Amino acid sequence: MPTMLEVTGLNHRYGKDAEAHVAVNELSFTVQAGELACIVGPSGCGKSTLLRCIAGLIAPTGGTVSLHGDRVTGVPDDLAVVFQDYSRSLFPWLSVARNVEFPLRWGKLSKSERRERARAALAEVGLAGTENKYPWQLSGGMQQRVSIARALARRPALLLMDEPFASVDAQTRFELEDLLRRVQREQGSTVLLVTHDIDESVYLGDRVLVLSKSPASIVADLPVGLPAERDQITTRESAEFVSLRGEVARLLHGGSPEAVKAASDAAEWDLAEQEAAAAEAKERAR
Ligand SMILES: Nc1ncnc2c1ncn2[C@@H]1O[C@H](COP(=O)(O)OP(=O)(O)OP(=O)(O)O)[C@@H](O)[C@H]1O
Ligand SMILES: [Mg+2]
Repeated sequence: MPTMLEVTGLNHRYGKDAEAHVAVNELSFTVQAGELACIVGPSGCGKSTLLRCIAGLIAPTGGTVSLHGDRVTGVPDDLAVVFQDYSRSLFPWLSVARNVEFPLRWGKLSKSERRERARAALAEVGLAGTENKYPWQLSGGMQQRVSIARALARRPALLLMDEPFASVDAQTRFELEDLLRRVQREQGSTVLLVTHDIDESVYLGDRVLVLSKSPASIVADLPVGLPAERDQITTRESAEFVSLRGEVARLLHGGSPEAVKAASDAAEWDLAEQEAAAAEAKERAR
């Protein structure tokens, strides 16, 4: 798989001198084409700053970002961002279809091609038939689907998502997570999603990058060994899921990767000892 995104030695500092606040510190990682990578980090650690630097919305104070080998200096044409707050990201005076078509105006597509792209993207997110409605006539979850459709319609090389499901209820969140995984696999998209929700990062990701407290740096880069087909109930109950979420939680609460490994080995050892003791007790009871 070719590398889609390469972040090297990224630093970002807001303000100058005594007022300066370092938000991102020496961050390096890559994302391969077709991968769904999650970044999980504590609130306020610098996740949105990192995404803004990758999206070319702000110029980092140090380091580089490259998208398919091209250095990012402004917002790339083939990059789309979905933000947390759907109510502020859609235009209330445009219909659902027009909202989805809007960013396509700057491309090479004809009017009818744009209309067809929007229709297909809305169908993909389960919103066929809502084309002529206005965003405010839809529920929060449906509005966030429109934001996702708008991003997908552009067929971006990289889709960045900043806590995209943080403002919807738990049930809708599950539906949107499954929608994202399905669409990402069908379209072979490359996605980098930021969240502060540990379970979400493990459930969604092919990989989880764990960030430290502010200023953000990478504490661990964990592959997610879960099967590609995931299910909100059975996946979340599986041993692999439970152990990985524990590992991420420990890392987020300040453990070094070595300390976390030792703790999880000890826990496994305890479990093995307990099982052996239980078996022995059973044997004796006979
Ligand atoms: N425009 C700005 N000017 C100055 N400081 C800023 C600016 N934007 C963010 N910061 C500071 O940088 C730090 C990181 O902010 P950022 O929004 O990137 O964090 P985050 O991880 O996305 O937080 P959250 O989990 O709340 O979304 C915070 O301390 C914040 O106060
Ligand atoms: Mg943020």
